[in-house]
Amino acid sequence: MRLVLPVLFGLESVTAAECKALGLGNGMPLVRDGRVLVDVGPLGQCGLPVARANLFLRTAERVLLEGDEFPAPDFDALFDRTAAIPWELLLPDGVVVHVRGSSRTSRLSSVPACQSIVRKAVAKRLAAGGRARDPETGLVLEDPARGTARISFHLADDRASLCLDTSGEPLHKRGIRPESVDAPLRETLAAGLVLLSRWQPDTGEALVDPFCGSGTLLVEAARMALGIAPGIGRGFFGETLPFVGTAFADARREAEREAARQEDRLRALGREGPLPLFGSDVDPDALRATRDNAARAGVPGRIRLRQADARVLTPAGLMKDTGTESLLILTNPPYGERLLDRAAARSLYEALGRSFLQGGRPPPGVRMGILAPADGFEDAVGAAAFRRRKLYNGMIQCYLYQFQGRGHP
Ligand SMILES: C[S@@+](CC[C@H](N)C(=O)[O-])C[C@H]1O[C@@H](n2cnc3c(N)ncnc32)[C@H](O)[C@@H]1O
Repeated sequence: MRLVLPVLFGLESVTAAECKALGLGNGMPLVRDGRVLVDVGPLGQCGLPVARANLFLRTAERVLLEGDEFPAPDFDALFDRTAAIPWELLLPDGVVVHVRGSSRTSRLSSVPACQSIVRKAVAKRLAAGGRARDPETGLVLEDPARGTARISFHLADDRASLCLDTSGEPLHKRGIRPESVDAPLRETLAAGLVLLSRWQPDTGEALVDPFCGSGTLLVEAARMALGIAPGIGRGFFGETLPFVGTAFADARREAEREAARQEDRLRALGREGPLPLFGSDVDPDALRATRDNAARAGVPGRIRLRQADARVLTPAGLMKDTGTESLLILTNPPYGERLLDRAAARSLYEALGRSFLQGGRPPPGVRMGILAPADGFEDAVGAAAFRRRKLYNGMIQCYLYQFQGRGHP
């Protein structure tokens, strides 16, 4: 069987690398548009990979378990192959079944019709597997108190992939209800930006977010540095599945061991206080939100914060403030989505260009990664990025513009 991991466009390779680092699955994950696929063997061996993927992946949006993937040129094929999946082994007794899906470049193009076929095929299979039925309607009994199983189909080029969602709430919800100010980053995107930037706290490089808002980037970076599993504070629908056994409990123990190991390591190095993480924002409410979020995320006191207008910051000043000559400035400044704000956003970008990019690049020791809209950013900062990665922040297409000073490999 396979895990299907929907991810934000542009982060597929980051999620694939996370899977590899976790030793998830057999062989290399496959990368498709917006999805990463991981082979995890027969159903009997799926519990632990399902649990570990849910608990440890920082950039995946959900963990789906694929029941089957098959040619589906017509409704009969869709029905028969869906009914051949052993749903009675996959689904808890009595759960409500929700079916959703998508179709592109396929003869079966009506999503509502396919939804109805899939629903009927699952019900038929469950009834044949001996699940309790309503004596009047003959339908398999569903009890909302037992939860809702989300089954999804994905039709593309006349092939169907049928999946069970094992996450429940999407994984960017880390189980801490964050305080947010203006336009917070999604946690999965924030983690992706840190991973794309290859920030290594042990090198002493300071990560600085001068438009920190509610601190999503800094909090995600802190949790990574401390080995805190992103899903440790929340539950997952997968915990109710009949085939998982003790997998989630085992994965949680693994997560606790890893966090304790990191804590011991940092203690032995004398690094119990703040991490090399620095945030600033012009808005005092943003700093309060960051402080609250850091505390809820289990990283209180690990991030240094101060109120500042980013237009007055300079590389030399930041080196002095952070006590290091090695800086990663990673941030998403305001976008100026609304027409009236465009000029203000542009003037901020121009100020960043003047302070941080001399002769088209940052000074030695400084790297920058700026998430900004696709048009006009490089023009405003007056320099071409050495690397651009296309990403989506919600519906807004943007780029992570990366710049680096001389001396970086
Ligand atoms: C897009 S939000 C950042 C969101 C943040 N990444 C998060 O996850 O919450 C932009 C932030 O820039 C701040 N800001 C706007 N102008 C600023 C300036 N001149 N200097 C510093 N911060 C500024 C706003 O207060 C806002 O918090």
